[in-house]
Amino acid sequence: MIEQDFVCTDDFVSNGIVKWNSPSNIAIVKYWGKKENQIPQNPSISFTLSKCYTTTSVEFKPKKNKDSDIIFEFENEINHPFGQKIRLFISSIEKYFKFLNNHDIHIKSTNNFPHSSGIASSASAMSALSSCLVDFEYLNSNKKSSLYYINKKSFIARLGSGSASRSIEGPISLWGISDSYKGSSDLYAINISEEVNKIFHNYQNTILIIDPGVKKISSSIGHKLMNENPFSKTRFDIATRNISLLKDVFKSGNLDEFINLTESEALMIHSLMLSSNPYFILMKPNTLEVINRVLEYRRETKLPLCFTLDAGSNVHLLYPFSIKQTIQKFIEDDLSLFCKSNKYIHDCLGKGSEKLL
Ligand code: PMV
Repeated sequence: MIEQDFVCTDDFVSNGIVKWNSPSNIAIVKYWGKKENQIPQNPSISFTLSKCYTTTSVEFKPKKNKDSDIIFEFENEINHPFGQKIRLFISSIEKYFKFLNNHDIHIKSTNNFPHSSGIASSASAMSALSSCLVDFEYLNSNKKSSLYYINKKSFIARLGSGSASRSIEGPISLWGISDSYKGSSDLYAINISEEVNKIFHNYQNTILIIDPGVKKISSSIGHKLMNENPFSKTRFDIATRNISLLKDVFKSGNLDEFINLTESEALMIHSLMLSSNPYFILMKPNTLEVINRVLEYRRETKLPLCFTLDAGSNVHLLYPFSIKQTIQKFIEDDLSLFCKSNKYIHDCLGKGSEKLL
C-alpha cells in the first residue's frame, strides 16, 4: 500500500463514540534514526506488551463553529500539557480523515501504568488514538478490507510516534522495509507472529523502574542526532542485518542467539547516545548494576534471562514463560532493591490494540 491509499475523502457528519485500549511495546531490533516524515532509517522488530496500555475514547459530534473544537483530557485533566501535542498531531493528519473537518472531538485518555514510571507512553497513546480515529472512519464510510484498517491504524500511529506503529498488532511486529519479510513497509508495521517459534508468543517482560523522572532528551531529538552521528551508517547496516538474523532465531528458537542479539541491540543504541554530539547518557548507575547482576545470574544459573533497554534508564527483562516463577523470585529478592521505591511491573506479550466501545 502507498501513502495515497490512506487518504479518506468521505465527508460524512455523524455522532458517535469509540473507545480502544492499546499497549506499549519493547523493541528487540531498535529504531533509532529517521528520515523525513517518520520514515525509519532501518527496520525494527518489537514484542507487543499487554499489561501496560493506554485507554482512549473519542467522542465525535457535528461541529458547532467554523473551526472544529478539539478537547483533550488526560487522566481527567483538561489542560494537560499533552493537549497541545495532540492538537498539532490531529491537524497534521487531517488529510487522511476528511471527516475531521466536520466534527468537534472530545478525547479522553488514561494510562493504566503510573505516568511517572518512565515507561514510554507515546507508543500506547498514539496507537490508541489512531485506533479510535480509524474505527470511526470504518463505522461511517464505504467499507474496505480489514487489512486496510489495520494498516491505516499503524500508518497513523507511526505519524504520531514511530514505535507506536508496532503497537496495533501483536505479539510480534515489524516496521520498516526489509528484504527478509515480504509485505514489509516503511509506512506501517506488519504482524510477523505467524513466522515466529511459539516459545516467543508468551514471552515475559518485567520492567524495572530505575528512574521514574522525565527524560532530559526526548527520543525525537535522539533520532535527529543520528543524522550527524559518525557511526550511523554502520548502525543502520547492522540493524538491517540483525533483522535477518533475528528472523532465523525466531524460526529456530535458539535462545542463546536471541539473548546475544537482544542485549547487543540495547547496548548499541545507548552507545549511539554516548557518541552523538551533543552526547547524552540515559542509563543510571542502577541500570548498570542491574545489567551486571543479570549477566552474573545467567552465568551462574544458565537460565535464559536477558535484558533490553529503551530510550531511558529502565531495564526490561525478557524470559520464557517456563521459568517465570524462578525469575520473578530473583527479581523480587535481588533486583527490586535497585528499583525506585522497589518498583517493577510484570508484563507479557499480547495481541495489540483492542476495541472497548
Ligand atoms: O517512537 P519513538 O520516536 O519514541 O522512538 C522509539 C525509540 C526506541 O524506543 C529507543 C526504540 C524502538 O524501536 O522502540
